[in-house]
Amino acid sequence: MPIQTVPLTLPPSADPSKFTVFGREVIGVDLENLSPAEFAEIERLLYTHDALLFRNANLSPEQQYAFTRAFDPTSESYAHGNQKTESTKKSILHYLKMIPRVPQVQLVGNGTLSDHEGLETAELKHPSHRTFHKTVVSPEDEARGATRFCRWHMDAALYDLLPPKVTTLYALRVPQGPQQVCRYDDGTGDELPIPLGATAFVSGRTMFDILPRPLQSVAVRARVRYAPHPYVWMGPVAAHSTGLALESEGKEVSLDQLPPWTEDKIQVLPATWKNPVTGALHFQVHPCAAQELFVDPLPEGVSREGALYPDGAHITDLKEMRDLLYKMQRPAIAPSLVYPHDWKEKDLVIFHNRGVMHTVVGALGPDQVRVFHQSNLAASSAPVGPTLEDVRKYA
Ligand SMILES: [Fe+2]
Repeated sequence: MPIQTVPLTLPPSADPSKFTVFGREVIGVDLENLSPAEFAEIERLLYTHDALLFRNANLSPEQQYAFTRAFDPTSESYAHGNQKTESTKKSILHYLKMIPRVPQVQLVGNGTLSDHEGLETAELKHPSHRTFHKTVVSPEDEARGATRFCRWHMDAALYDLLPPKVTTLYALRVPQGPQQVCRYDDGTGDELPIPLGATAFVSGRTMFDILPRPLQSVAVRARVRYAPHPYVWMGPVAAHSTGLALESEGKEVSLDQLPPWTEDKIQVLPATWKNPVTGALHFQVHPCAAQELFVDPLPEGVSREGALYPDGAHITDLKEMRDLLYKMQRPAIAPSLVYPHDWKEKDLVIFHNRGVMHTVVGALGPDQVRVFHQSNLAASSAPVGPTLEDVRKYA
């Protein structure tokens, strides 16, 4: 049977006109026995639609790793390194637990597990806004189902190792319970009904497309310098109520207190990344890990009228940089632009990690067990920024 696709089922909160390209469910594939032609088609679909859902998938960790690696065949290491995440206790990603025999696949979720893929016991903790945001939803509101996004991000070490092209997320156990309401708590009144334990996605392409012209101009001219060991650096810092920014209160770990680092492993990446299949630009910045922003001057011959930073800029003030990034990213997490995936067991979602942002949502109790296998690989090549033609078009 040829590979078929159908649009993802959107929740009533989503604006269908903004999801004509994003997301497809793929039908009629046996993931365990993909022919090279079928894989090529899946790869094309992934970069075209940015997220693909396969229902009723059966994948061992070895098979999940092999499938993930097929998108970047010369990569071998997990996105954060094959040994690093668990040992780096000061990292905010300390909850990641690798499958012992396949370190490129991580066990994520919530609750206590025993005898799972070679792990005698595993204590999983669903990351939630409670331990990350500066303010939290009150226990009374939480009891009534109010919750928040945790942390909008792409999966990437952003130091030493290059951002993965693709992430695969495989649901083994999904908690059952009533829908929650994700509150933004940023004065807009925005809120989003959300299935329990959902993963929320937004398109980086939409994020770029809906920017007003002066900010599109900044987006195509900007490069982000990420902090060394960013997840340790941001460890003590509290986040904004939308999970899309950090509060600038000077709490970052000082650079001389970080694990040893060297300048040559620092990552400076374009703020917009070019889709390898569609050529579209995706605004892809990890807002919490960013440390500095470089903006190139306007190219010669481009009108300066209304332009921001026409002569370029090097923004080193964290608050100024974060405020600018927030202005550019917040419109794209509006409730109508978010796809919250309502997980069913054996769902495999693969997403173009260089083209979308995502976050877990909600808070789970200790008895609400959620078990997922996640895999992504430090890429073999850096993301490609806008072409000179793109810069001239949007600057
Ligand atoms: Fe993630």
